[in-house]
Amino acid sequence: MTAQVVIEARGVSKWVRDGSRRREVLRGVSLAVAAGEWVVLTGPSGSGKTTLLGVLGGMLLPSEGEVLIDGEAVSRLRDRHRAEVRRRKVGYLFQDLALVPGMTCLDNVLLPLLPDGLATREGESRALAALDRLGVGARAADKVDGLSGGEKQRVALARALVVGPRVLLLDEPTAHLDRSLAEALLADLEALAAGGAAVVVSSHDPRILSDPRVNRIFTLEAGVLSPPAVAGELLGASSVPGDILGEGAPSVPGEGLS
Ligand SMILES: Nc1ncnc2c1ncn2[C@@H]1O[C@H](COP(=O)(O)OP(=O)(O)O)[C@@H](O)[C@H]1O
Ligand SMILES: [Mg+2]
Repeated sequence: MTAQVVIEARGVSKWVRDGSRRREVLRGVSLAVAAGEWVVLTGPSGSGKTTLLGVLGGMLLPSEGEVLIDGEAVSRLRDRHRAEVRRRKVGYLFQDLALVPGMTCLDNVLLPLLPDGLATREGESRALAALDRLGVGARAADKVDGLSGGEKQRVALARALVVGPRVLLLDEPTAHLDRSLAEALLADLEALAAGGAAVVVSSHDPRILSDPRVNRIFTLEAGVLSPPAVAGELLGASSVPGDILGEGAPSVPGEGLS
């Protein structure tokens, strides 16, 4: 790969405590994503997608191995420094969006800028620009509580983008979107990747898995990452109606969590 690697996992394993037992959620995962690249992580519910995104974004620490952002081993940094790198370089879209209720759209998008003292005119103009870009600028002064699902998704994406992240991590971003909003989101992701961000999306949405704009698709199975495929390959010949697959994950027997 000639393009510059922005984010890299090297031999990442992650154990969690499960009652008195230890569970291995990620097993020796290695992955490098370059500037301008858009990759997808797929795999059944419970296979470790959200955990891997959390480790890539520095929200979770690997139990083994390391994560590098722009060549810096963030997983080795002290908490405060790691939080700072994460805030400046990583945009994260939570599966449940994690918007702050009772706050306006604008204030939600301003949150990542607060430590820079950017709740000022400059911060506001950046936040408004991010909301505008996603077509929800007109809702800036409204509380997030009253928005539709698709509008909330866009506000959350604006918040992930407002710092101009090097890495954009999105956890099942189309789960609550209808066809036209999903298409708009995919176009946004393409534009972001074209702008030089490394974009990593977890999804089992066939609309994403068959999208030719996706560069590589990795499958996680029980915490093990398989070599990449290209868009469309994993769906095989079976044609599945997209509208029933947005949420309904194929699941591993004995697993039911997403
Ligand atoms: N902090 C935790 N404590 C216990 N189990 C966890 C924890 N985090 C993740 N897991 C388990 O790890 C597995 C992978 O979870 P997750 O990364 O959310 O998978 P996915 O996003 O692919 O559905 C699940 O079985 C989940 O229950
Ligand atoms: Mg998940």
